Amino acid sequence: MEPFNPLNPELAVNPYPAYADLRENDPVHLSAMGAYVLTRYDDVRQMLNDGATFQHQYVAQQKLRTGAHVEDEPYFDYFRRMIFVSDGDAHHRLRKLVAKAFTPRQLTELRQKAEQIAGELFAEGAKQGGMDFVSEFALPFPLRVIGSMLGIPDSDHAEIGSHATALNPVLEFLPMSPEVLAQANESVEILADYFLQMAEARRRSPTDDLFSALVHATEDGDTLSNEELIANAILLYVAGHETTAGGTSLALFTLHNHPQHMNALRDDPEMIPAAIDELLRYDTPGQGTARVVMQQATFGGHVVEPGSFVLGYIGAANRDPAVYGNPCELDFQRDLARTRPLTFGGGGHMCVGRNLARQEFEVAFTTLLMEHPSIKVKEDQCRFRDTPLMRGLKSLPIEW
Ligand code: HEM
Repeated sequence: MEPFNPLNPELAVNPYPAYADLRENDPVHLSAMGAYVLTRYDDVRQMLNDGATFQHQYVAQQKLRTGAHVEDEPYFDYFRRMIFVSDGDAHHRLRKLVAKAFTPRQLTELRQKAEQIAGELFAEGAKQGGMDFVSEFALPFPLRVIGSMLGIPDSDHAEIGSHATALNPVLEFLPMSPEVLAQANESVEILADYFLQMAEARRRSPTDDLFSALVHATEDGDTLSNEELIANAILLYVAGHETTAGGTSLALFTLHNHPQHMNALRDDPEMIPAAIDELLRYDTPGQGTARVVMQQATFGGHVVEPGSFVLGYIGAANRDPAVYGNPCELDFQRDLARTRPLTFGGGGHMCVGRNLARQEFEVAFTTLLMEHPSIKVKEDQCRFRDTPLMRGLKSLPIEW
């Protein structure tokens, strides 16, 4: 078969037939990029769960992606300190400190704020008679929610948020164009200055937001260094909106294509929380993640040597027929507790924001379906993003 090319732009529109082909014919496939592509649920889960054998090795990964000069790029100096790319003991230490700041109490308190933001954004769209669901809801909604969780005042969201959005491409593991790289370098410095000033203010007078909790988090006398604090606040701001925005647009597009499912949620909004996990399984925003193989590994009989790169395709695992019956069908009655979709990853790096994300989906779709039941999607104007791994739509106009 033709080597699979993770950069193929057609994958951004519909990657699922290509995944099905690979899963059936070459489940541990050496791709055109030189990295192994995994498409079976069990293999992707093995990669995510075994943090000793499959590591981020961020320096090696980024050299492959951006070139040997990567260590001179400003973005790299911040990103290498982030929890999501750290390995082993360094990761355990960061995870304990970051998890301390992420409490269920904050989530409960944030619900009301999320409802208020969703209500305002949809009311504005209704007043205009239409809106682009992506730029006027799916992006600003989670950006404002995570922003207020971090303690960013409403007056700064538009300006500071645009720099967080400019860093989205850095989370992909695909090469960046010189323009995208230059913008990411500029934006990371602006965000770092912003959070540095906030850190100084929170040290002088603590508040009850997530950022203040990060500033003051301690574990056995250990605290985050200033550099780690800034880097991980930037990560939460970026990771806290990018995937959620992609997932929200995908979920609305899916519901538009399944009107009977949309009606079922309108008739019984109590189904919404459970339906969210199935919507995210059916079309997954974070399609894949990468690791470096540290010691010889075997995936269902296929041997992979140390030093190899592996790309675990979460989007493919979530549609593996060995695990989910009729995986290409949307089914709100599916028992997902038995075999958890890998939407939020697994093992030690499992998404720290998963409950926040689920709450945001619940608030967004409850508000939309209950308060604006008559909205229509203008299907002919819908467009997918160009980024196959950070999947989502870039335009999804709706009208009232
Ligand atoms: C639909 C929304 C979301 C999806 C699909 C998603 C997906 C993921 C996945 C797959 C991972 C693991 C990546 C890997 O192992 O390489 C991850 C990790 C992470 N996510 Fe999310 N995420 C979402 C929302 C959020 C939100 C709202 C936040 C923060 C407020 C967040 C913060 C993080 C962080 C900090 C990590 C790194 C954890 C670690 O390395 O220990 N995510 N996410």
